[in-house]
Amino acid sequence: MTAVKPPIAMLAELTHRCPLSCPYCSNPVQMAVRENELDTQVWTRVFREAADLGVLQLHLSGGEPASRPDLVELVDAARDAGLYTNLITSGIGLTKKRLDALDAAGLDHVQLSLQGTNAAMADRIGGYRGGYDRKMLVAEWVGEIGFPLTLNFVVHRQNLAQLPQALAMAEKMGARRIEIATVQFHGWALKNRDALMPTREQAKHAGRIVAEVRERLKGRLVVDYVPADYHEDFPKRCMGGWGTSGLNIGPDGQVLPCHAAQSIPHLKFESVKARSLAKIWYESEAFNMYRGTGWMQEPCKSCDRKTIDFGGCRCQALAIVGDAAATDPVCSKSPHHSALQLQADAHASSEGSALIYRLPPEKTVAH
Ligand code: SF4
Ligand code: FES
Repeated sequence: MTAVKPPIAMLAELTHRCPLSCPYCSNPVQMAVRENELDTQVWTRVFREAADLGVLQLHLSGGEPASRPDLVELVDAARDAGLYTNLITSGIGLTKKRLDALDAAGLDHVQLSLQGTNAAMADRIGGYRGGYDRKMLVAEWVGEIGFPLTLNFVVHRQNLAQLPQALAMAEKMGARRIEIATVQFHGWALKNRDALMPTREQAKHAGRIVAEVRERLKGRLVVDYVPADYHEDFPKRCMGGWGTSGLNIGPDGQVLPCHAAQSIPHLKFESVKARSLAKIWYESEAFNMYRGTGWMQEPCKSCDRKTIDFGGCRCQALAIVGDAAATDPVCSKSPHHSALQLQADAHASSEGSALIYRLPPEKTVAH
């Protein structure tokens, strides 16, 4: 068995509170309420533990991290711990004054989410009127301060036609990177497959656009692309492999191998309130359960791609096949692959466009 390496990146979900209510939110369907959020002191300790463990990059996320009144203090604490800090935000809740304070605290990078490239689309998808105009203002301030910027455009059937505009926007804003991420169908998004599933043709077209832009803007704009995996033949290497290079911490301190891990009911997650991050990373049952390749069943077990994609996504295997240790059904070697593709085509051809929006934490069952 190969030795477990330390994680490189940590995603700190500071809060599940968010002014937006995107129907594909990656937060769990049952969210942590404000009263259960870790306080500034505990996060400060966790950032130090993360740096000691070997983490280099800290992604401050949510919900909307700007909903935390102590965001500047948290960035300050993370920089003190020696971590590279990236703020993943919708922009709502940020003012010029607050961004200046974040700059002074040492924030290294901003990642701004896009729900669409005009107000009509963005405000409808985000469920927040006026959100798009505010976001554009925040993008201007980010440019004025000189934060390196990544745009993050989550795409689906309803907004994929705006992909060229999103790429042009990234270029115009001087972003260094754009992440085009097709909705991953876990949690809230699973409820919205009929409204959001891209068609096979859309997915192919998006792939061509990305390839052309990557070539044209080589050296100027990095384009990361997460394709519509339901229409692919091989799965993505989810989280870079379970317990391999990254970890997530929920607002209440639970340490998770990925953002959707709580959808796997037999896993028990440990909290930074009770155990050190290092012990959880190396020793906890949840991190060791699907780490490496020893847990695999056929066809993954004897497949020559098993250390390339690590069998795909555990949460997707559970959601579709009902077994988190099964081969991700996106894989053409999975016995469930054809059924998944038929299902994807059926969702994609649905006439429905009504969205089931994410609810705020106090309206879901808190844990
Ligand atoms: Fe990846 Fe498993 Fe498919 Fe092989 S069988 S390509 S390891 S998901
Ligand atoms: Fe959990 Fe892919 S989202 S392993």
